[in-house]
Amino acid sequence: MTGNPTTVVMHEAFTIGEIDRRLFGSFVEHMGRTVYTGIYEPNHPSADSRGFRGDVLTLVKELGPTMVRYPGGNFVSAYNWEDGVGPASERPVRLDLAWRSTETNEVGLNEFAEWSKSAGVELMLAVNLGTRGVDAARNLVEYCNHPGGTYWSDLRRRHGVQAPHNVKVWCLGNEMDAPWQIGHKTPMEYGRIAVEAAKAMRRVDPTIELVACGSSNSRMPTFGAWEATVLEQTYDQVDYISLHNYYEDVDDRDLNSFLASSDSMDDFIDSVVATADFVKGKLHSPKTIQLSFDEWNIWHQTEFHRGDTEREAWRKAPDLAEDIYSAAEAVVLGTLLISLLNHSDRVRMACLAQLVNVIAPITTEPSGRAWRQSTFYPFADVAGRAGTRSLRLSVTSPQHDTDRYGRVSSVVAAATIDDTTGEIVLFAVNRSPTDPTQLDLSLSGTLAGYHVTDHRVLQNDDPYAVNTADDPYKVEPRQEPVTGVVTLSPLSWNVVTMQKN
Ligand code: AHR
Repeated sequence: MTGNPTTVVMHEAFTIGEIDRRLFGSFVEHMGRTVYTGIYEPNHPSADSRGFRGDVLTLVKELGPTMVRYPGGNFVSAYNWEDGVGPASERPVRLDLAWRSTETNEVGLNEFAEWSKSAGVELMLAVNLGTRGVDAARNLVEYCNHPGGTYWSDLRRRHGVQAPHNVKVWCLGNEMDAPWQIGHKTPMEYGRIAVEAAKAMRRVDPTIELVACGSSNSRMPTFGAWEATVLEQTYDQVDYISLHNYYEDVDDRDLNSFLASSDSMDDFIDSVVATADFVKGKLHSPKTIQLSFDEWNIWHQTEFHRGDTEREAWRKAPDLAEDIYSAAEAVVLGTLLISLLNHSDRVRMACLAQLVNVIAPITTEPSGRAWRQSTFYPFADVAGRAGTRSLRLSVTSPQHDTDRYGRVSSVVAAATIDDTTGEIVLFAVNRSPTDPTQLDLSLSGTLAGYHVTDHRVLQNDDPYAVNTADDPYKVEPRQEPVTGVVTLSPLSWNVVTMQKN
C-alpha cells in the first residue's frame, strides 16, 4: 500500500550553491577511545609501523570524510600542544581535566598529521584559548606552517617533519561560552582574546582561515547574544562562526519527534545566519561570515551525563560516550545531512563528531574487531555521492503530527548535481513511521529527460536494530530494483541517482 505521493520539483536554474567539500568533515578528539585503541593501537594486529590501526584506516577511507578537526573539543581548552611533539619517550603524562583521563601524549600533532595524510583528509586544528592565549596560538601556527629558519619551524624540522603542514583552517578555541569549559569566558572576554589571537596567527600565515566559537548549542541561555557580541569584536579577523549541536531521543520515548530533529537544525542554522548578517549590517561590512558546523551528531547525552558521578578514577582512554546507533538513528542522521546540504551556501564546513568509538560511525574493540555503525551509511553516501552543487528543491509531501515540533512534512530531501558528469543525486528521508509515499519527480529545463538509474535504501523493520561486533551487518543499505516507480518506505534513508537519457 502506498500513501499520498511526494512531489519533488527541480530546475537547474534553482541552485543553492557550490558545495565546499569540507562540509563532509569529522572530528578526532583526545576523548575516551577515539585516539588510543581507536585510530592508534601499536599492538593491534592490523597496526602499521607508526601504530595506526589498518582496519580503522580502511573504514575511515570508506566513510570518506574530507577534513578532520583535532585535538578537541573540550580537551583543547587545557592542552599544551608542545606536550605532543618531539621524542615520544620524553613527552609528559598529564591529567586531562575535560574528560578526567590521563593523557600520555603518545599521539600529538605530527602523528595526527601523518595519520591524516594516510586517511586522505585535511587537518583542521583548534587552539587552546581556555588556559592559554595569543602566544601559544601564534607559535603553533609557526610550528605548523612556516617553512624553516625560525625557532618553531626549525623545532618541527628537528622533530623530523621537513615540509610545513600548511594547516588552513583553525578554530579559535572550543565552546568558550560553556560553563563546563576550562577557561570559560564571557562573550567580551572571548571576543578580545579571539581577535588578538587571530591577528597574531594571521601575521604568521596570512593564508589561514579562522573560525570563531559560536554557542555550545542552541539551548544555551546566551545563544544569539553570544554570537552577536563575539562577531562584533572579531568580524574583520575571522571567516566563520561555529555551530555545535547534538540531537537525541531522551530515553527512547518519542521517536516521532526525534525523527523531526532536522527541522530544529534548520532553525538553528537560519538563526545563526540571521545573527551573522545582523552584525554585517550593523558594522556596514561588505564581508559575509560563513558557518562552520564543526560538531554535529546524535548523542545519548542525557545518559552520558547520568554517569558523571561515576567517572571518578583517572584512567587512560576510558570508554566514554560509546553510543550504539539504531536504524532509526541512521535515518535521523540522514535528515541532518539533508539540512546541511540545503544550507550549503552558508554552512561551508561541518564535522560529524566524532570519528571512532566516541559517538562515532566506527566502533572498535581494543585489540579486536572494528565495524560500521548504522550511522556510517548515510554519511558515506553523502560524502561519496554528493555532486558539486546543491539544487534548491520544492518538496510537497504528506504531513504528520509530532509532540515536539507540531505538524511536520513527512519527507525531507536535498539534491545535488555534478557539474562534470551531469549526475543528479537525490537524498530523501521518509520520516513517517507508518506510511510509504511514492516519489513524483518533476524535472524541467535542462533537467528534463533525466531518469532514475539507481535507488539505495537504508530501512529496517525494527527501528531499534543495531550493528554489533557479532552481528555487524544487521543494519545496512540495500539496492531497490529500478522500475520507474520510486517508493520511500516509512522510516527510510534513500539515495536516488538520476542520469540524462
Ligand atoms: O564531542 C564531544 C564534546 O562535545 C566536545 O568535546 C565538546 O566540544 C562538546 O561539548
